[in-house]
Amino acid sequence: MNVIKKRIKIAVAASAALLMLVYLYKTLMTSPTVLIAANSVEEQRHWPPTEHAEQRKLQNAYEAQTALLHQQRQEMFRTKEQLAQLEEQVRSLQASTPRKYPKVKYLNYKNRKRILITGGAGFVGSHLVDYLMIQGHEVIVVDNFFTGRKRNVAHWLGHENFELIHHDIVNPLFIEIDEIYHLASPASPPHYMYNPVKTIKTNTMGTINVLGLAKRVMAKVLIASTSEVYGDPTVHPQPETYWGHVNPIGPRACYDEGKRVSETLSYAYAKQEKVQVRVARIFNTYGPRMHMNDGRVVSNFILQALRNETITVYGNGKQTRSFQYVSDLVDGMIALMASNYTQPVNLGNPVEQTIEEFAHIIKQLVGGVSEVKKIKAMEDDPQRRKPDITRAKRILNWEPNVPLETGLLKTISYFRNELARSDRFQENSRKYFESPDMERQLT
Ligand SMILES: NC(=O)c1ccc[n+]([C@@H]2O[C@H](COP(=O)([O-])OP(=O)(O)OC[C@H]3O[C@@H](n4cnc5c(N)ncnc54)[C@H](O)[C@@H]3O)[C@@H](O)[C@H]2O)c1
Repeated sequence: MNVIKKRIKIAVAASAALLMLVYLYKTLMTSPTVLIAANSVEEQRHWPPTEHAEQRKLQNAYEAQTALLHQQRQEMFRTKEQLAQLEEQVRSLQASTPRKYPKVKYLNYKNRKRILITGGAGFVGSHLVDYLMIQGHEVIVVDNFFTGRKRNVAHWLGHENFELIHHDIVNPLFIEIDEIYHLASPASPPHYMYNPVKTIKTNTMGTINVLGLAKRVMAKVLIASTSEVYGDPTVHPQPETYWGHVNPIGPRACYDEGKRVSETLSYAYAKQEKVQVRVARIFNTYGPRMHMNDGRVVSNFILQALRNETITVYGNGKQTRSFQYVSDLVDGMIALMASNYTQPVNLGNPVEQTIEEFAHIIKQLVGGVSEVKKIKAMEDDPQRRKPDITRAKRILNWEPNVPLETGLLKTISYFRNELARSDRFQENSRKYFESPDMERQLT
């Protein structure tokens, strides 16, 4: 019995000692001193930091960045999708909103023609478009927009009778049409002198393409020629029988000779290929939609007067010009196309003015404080220009009837609006580029 008691005592003492030991160990291990010591031992194991640890750090940073980028890219795709959906909605809304067009006549299929106007987005061409559209014809405009603008025909875009084709007439064109008005060519000296070779190509290769098309589809074609085929004339006024006085190597030759070849080509196609041709020799024409900066006398004087700048007259100002309003020209071209007459016809206003007189008329109509000043004459500037329109009167029963003052007032009003529009545009651009948002984007 004693032996058993003794053994139990020993066992209890041993357990108590074991418990004490466990308690002591736990207390020691959780004490801060021991922990710091343990950590520094651990750090010492990895010190100096190994390449592996650095790589792991970099890897982690890289993965975090990639995940962020991925998330941003997904958000961007979602936004793009939403934007595309919105654009589609706007497009379908626009398509379903009926546009307002100028009123056009109804023509049945027997009387309705498909009419091609090359250079139809230009000054004269766009007025011809308006006339033919209003008459109820189908009009196709072909233009390379060198000097023409979509804005000139924008009021017809989307109309079922209207089509606008961006095409350079130096390249062949294959379409089905009944009539062609061939107007494609730069018309003002700065424009046709800008690229003389292209001017010649347009008036030669372009005219060949137009006449070739007319031949293939048996269309009637009217060529827009010019009073420049008379050069600096020695006969006054100029009848169609006058052969002209052109400098073939002067700065204007690309246009003058280009148009003369254009006429020659027309009569060659008429004789050889039986193409029905009409040739309009157009004299100075003015009106709304003419180019603001085409360097021609009407636009120059009106702009200078509207800006209260000096009105500059080249040379002594005694050189003469005659100006026709654009609607008169359109009437003449329509009458010529409808006629059976195949020889060239002058279309212009025979009322002659000296350039100096003209400068004073414009100054008076615009008002303002501009003075008229004479400067150095231009090379090859024709001294006299006045059409003899006996033929147009006799054959077409046509003569201009818009008085100079009426036409000029309409043109001045157009230029005034254009100037205000470009001033507004410049002001808005300035505000936009100076806005803090834009500055932030640009820096
Ligand atoms: N306005 C006048 O006083 C006047 C006088 C005489 C003759 N013309 C003739 O009348 C026609 C029209 O003159 P405008 O005053 O309307 O000139 P414009 O410059 O306003 O119009 C000419 C049009 O032809 C386009 N064009 C030019 N080259 C082309 C090419 N290679 N392919 C396709 N399109 C091209 C231009 O982009 C422009 O739309 C011209 O042939 C011009 O020679 C005009």
